[in-house]
Amino acid sequence: MTFQFTPENMKEAKAIIAKYPKGRQLSALIPLLDLAQRQNGNWLSEEAMNYAADMLQVPRIRAYEAATFYTMFNLKPVGKHLLQVCTSIPCGMCGAAQVLKTCKDRLGINAGETTKDGLFSIVEVECLGACIHAPVVAINDDYNEKLSSKKMTAIIDKLEKEC
Ligand code: FES
Repeated sequence: MTFQFTPENMKEAKAIIAKYPKGRQLSALIPLLDLAQRQNGNWLSEEAMNYAADMLQVPRIRAYEAATFYTMFNLKPVGKHLLQVCTSIPCGMCGAAQVLKTCKDRLGINAGETTKDGLFSIVEVECLGACIHAPVVAINDDYNEKLSSKKMTAIIDKLEKEC
């Protein structure tokens, strides 16, 4: 398996790198990993991480460190809709456990798993930075806030219908 940016993403990658001073190319690592993940179907293969590190001429371990630290990076394939359920304290105090249970029951999978049809994955994440609207579930790039079991079920129903 190999990885390389599409011509369009290569242009984008060069624009990202150009934002940082010479000698500070490591600062572009996270946006490059994000770009690679988006191109790679929402997960980072080892080849994609290596590619980003090599492009920046930094040790590959730097890419592995970033990708394993931040939950925004997926290290294995995930479903088309990635439900990132915040279970940190503010969300926890506002019903995150019930929202998570609703996701699990409705989809028949546990956190860290993907439905057999490849449409949904659930992961538990730390604070998504939207505590004032807790409980929060990010689905891919979209935040769903002030959730309840009823609202969460309706969101999953809607996503299923759109597939
Ligand atoms: Fe859930 Fe901050 S604790 S968004």
